[in-house]
Amino acid sequence: MPGLTIGDTIPDLEAETTQGKIKLHQFCSDSWTILFSHPGDFTPVCTTELGKMAEYAKEFNERGVKLLGLSCDDIQSHNEWIKDIEAFTPGCKVSYPIMSDPRREIIKKLNMVDPDEKDSSGNNAPSRALHIVGPDLKVKLSFLYPATTGRNMDEVVRVVESLQKASKFKIATPANWKPGDPSVIQPSVTDQQAKDMFPQGFQTKDLPSGKNYLRFTKV
Ligand code: BEZ
Repeated sequence: MPGLTIGDTIPDLEAETTQGKIKLHQFCSDSWTILFSHPGDFTPVCTTELGKMAEYAKEFNERGVKLLGLSCDDIQSHNEWIKDIEAFTPGCKVSYPIMSDPRREIIKKLNMVDPDEKDSSGNNAPSRALHIVGPDLKVKLSFLYPATTGRNMDEVVRVVESLQKASKFKIATPANWKPGDPSVIQPSVTDQQAKDMFPQGFQTKDLPSGKNYLRFTKV
């Protein structure tokens, strides 16, 4: 069954969080947002991931990105769990809200269900889903990891940078791109347009086809 994916508008649902009730559209509008789910409270990989997210909160804040976590357990459980998270990653403060979803309704609407993972009551647990949502409330990028694979927050920062650059300039970021590396100019841009758009200049790679489509620039 298809679920929420790139280009879709996120649903405008209400959720209880560790910082009070939110309406998702209100929370996410006018900024970039990372929505990320976890299989469950008091589980090992999740405890490391939420601590890392807290450690990287400054990186996301500097880029105008809000964080919003989700684990199905209730708010009381989340608040107890936060003490473990902060103890495991010393110096980190879980300053972002974490949604609860005891009826497993939100995880269905956000395409965050792991069909193979059940909690101790036999309910479907969330996957490690992560959606990066733009200020227009549309999903720009999603990761979908199983419970057994923790996410890499450097990769999350890297893709945020790529998305934000591509939303400002007609560029794309090539394989293994890192912030500061040259980007490539989008194929829809003619060389003449590229001269106007990128006054800093661009370099065209000579290829056997003779087609001048691989053009590098720095933005
Ligand atoms: C974890 O977060 O460590 C985890 C949760 C469910 C299954 C496997 C690992």
